[in-house]
Amino acid sequence: MNRFDKITVALDGPAGAGKSTLAKRAAKFFNLMYVDTGAMYRCIGLYAKQNAVASKDEDGVKALLPSIKLDMKYDENGTQRMILNGDDVTEQIRQPEISTYASDVSAMPDVRSFLLFMQQDMAQRYDVIMDGRDIGTVVLPNAGLKIFITADAMARAKRRFIELEEKGVATTLDEVYNEMCQRDKNDSERAIAPLRQADDALLLDTTELDLEQSFKALCTLISERFQI
Ligand code: DC
Repeated sequence: MNRFDKITVALDGPAGAGKSTLAKRAAKFFNLMYVDTGAMYRCIGLYAKQNAVASKDEDGVKALLPSIKLDMKYDENGTQRMILNGDDVTEQIRQPEISTYASDVSAMPDVRSFLLFMQQDMAQRYDVIMDGRDIGTVVLPNAGLKIFITADAMARAKRRFIELEEKGVATTLDEVYNEMCQRDKNDSERAIAPLRQADDALLLDTTELDLEQSFKALCTLISERFQI
């Protein structure tokens, strides 16, 4: 038995650090619910785009919020599906242009409070591994384990580029690198809930690690902390 009634793992870090790939696998391995909070911001970004509202138009985005109904479902593989007003948008929100929309809308306080309750509610109800930018600092400040995953920017861009190529998205490494650096800057310099390592978070730098090594390192941190 461990000293935690509940397992709550908060995983933060910049874009492309491998958070979601690792969290998904760790969720399966330890039987936790995986909550991808970036996907929620992406849904709001997508909705703004669908309604021809500019990503930085704060009043415009705020006016859309009451007409957004967001649901998360889990398929038989444990994959989180994002349902926006009844439509499954899980694939659509991964388009590169939605990344910028998501980053822009995520700097808006109304958008953040709109999603905060949903995120905290998931952690109340389930054992979770939740990834994002402010999970350890704002969403789950009492998480049993906080990890900040990072890697140098070029290593992250290369990984993301390969992922996009595999999905058939036409882009270049330069484009991915520049978009990623711009997004890191937006996410870290915004006034509200900026991306930063919580004081009590453990740092996991995956620059020199491959996927298996990173996964092993993450699993070790989880199993040591929760004795599972
Ligand atoms: O993790 P991601 O790349 O899917 O996230 C998309 C954007 O959403 C990211 O650029 C910043 C924002 N985000 C955030 O502000 N807070 C979170 N907890 C998760 C994501």
